[in-house]
Amino acid sequence: MAGGTYLVTGGAGYVGSHLVLALVERGDKVVVLDDLRQGHRDALPPGAELVRADIADRRALEEVFAGWRFDAVFHFAALSLVGESMREPLRYCAENVSNSLRLAEAAVKAGCLRFVLSSTAALFGNPERTPIDEAAKLAPTSAYGDSKLMVERGLDWADGAHGLRSACLRYFNAAGADPSGRIGEDHEPETHLIPLAIGAALGTRPPLTVFGTDYPTPDGTCVRDYVHVTDLADAHLRVLERLEHGSCRYNVGSGTGYSVREVIEAVERVGGRPVPHHFGERRAGDPAVLVASSQRLREDTGWSPKLGALDEIVRTAWAWHSAHPRGFDDRNKA
Ligand SMILES: NC(=O)c1ccc[n+]([C@@H]2O[C@H](COP(=O)([O-])OP(=O)(O)OC[C@H]3O[C@@H](n4cnc5c(N)ncnc54)[C@H](O)[C@@H]3O)[C@@H](O)[C@H]2O)c1
Repeated sequence: MAGGTYLVTGGAGYVGSHLVLALVERGDKVVVLDDLRQGHRDALPPGAELVRADIADRRALEEVFAGWRFDAVFHFAALSLVGESMREPLRYCAENVSNSLRLAEAAVKAGCLRFVLSSTAALFGNPERTPIDEAAKLAPTSAYGDSKLMVERGLDWADGAHGLRSACLRYFNAAGADPSGRIGEDHEPETHLIPLAIGAALGTRPPLTVFGTDYPTPDGTCVRDYVHVTDLADAHLRVLERLEHGSCRYNVGSGTGYSVREVIEAVERVGGRPVPHHFGERRAGDPAVLVASSQRLREDTGWSPKLGALDEIVRTAWAWHSAHPRGFDDRNKA
């Protein structure tokens, strides 16, 4: 509901900041809990309040819930690098799971019984069929994916025991930037294809490595589903309403897959410059094709991607990166 008060953990990060913008623009009060390990103060619009703290800090959590009466929590803050999670699985499980469940516990204690989790397509591991709907087997192949699954399960239990209604949104690949150009993606390290390809074209990043050209796909490179980050923010607003009917789980993607080569071509088309790249070996654990079915989300909430075309996604990302070749100003000041 508009005119509410919301806690957004990780709201200074990439996806979270786009939701914060949407909430502030429709007149909601927003408190962002973020320790800025990856996020940016400059990603927050005027009007959003930042509490700079780690979710693991129990006292900080208590103070946040004592300070405001929240209508819902949107939980973005997490460790989210698949490769890193395979090197440090215990840290990923410990941090993602315990932080999320501690947050849910604090929400329940404060009487805030609406919770929206940033979950992931990594829950599905190597899917048996495509597009991937919510009935697909949950079989994560990374500690990162498994940590999110554990959180989803904890939230199921919290619904039964405490009436905590949760929406878990399994994002596929978030991409693009706010169409007005105010905010965009700025990760370090960056692991996502579109910013890496744009950075290679702009000369702000090294040439792109394409991992694997012998996949069983039309052009041999991996196929992924890219969902515009502004459409993703819209999905959050819609599931918030949906929570009135109970907890829910949704896969969120555009429903269309694009290969790595197609993304490179789109960046070259939109930017009018070549993307320097070379071909490397497959990366362990990369499925050939990951495309979402968001049928359930569309039917239940009326959501549909407005900025879903690949060129539109790349156009907004290109506008952001070319205007901010070094990312947010706060990174430059550091
Ligand atoms: N970006 C994607 O394509 C994608 C895909 C699937 C799922 N997700 C999930 O969406 C969420 C947001 O992703 P993103 O790309 O915006 O990530 P991000 O790293 O840009 O944002 C995460 C934010 O959380 C903050 N944070 C992390 N741990 C924290 C802690 N313990 N205490 C306080 N703040 C903390 C970081 O500073 C950062 O601002 C993550 O949970 C991620 O797993 C993202």
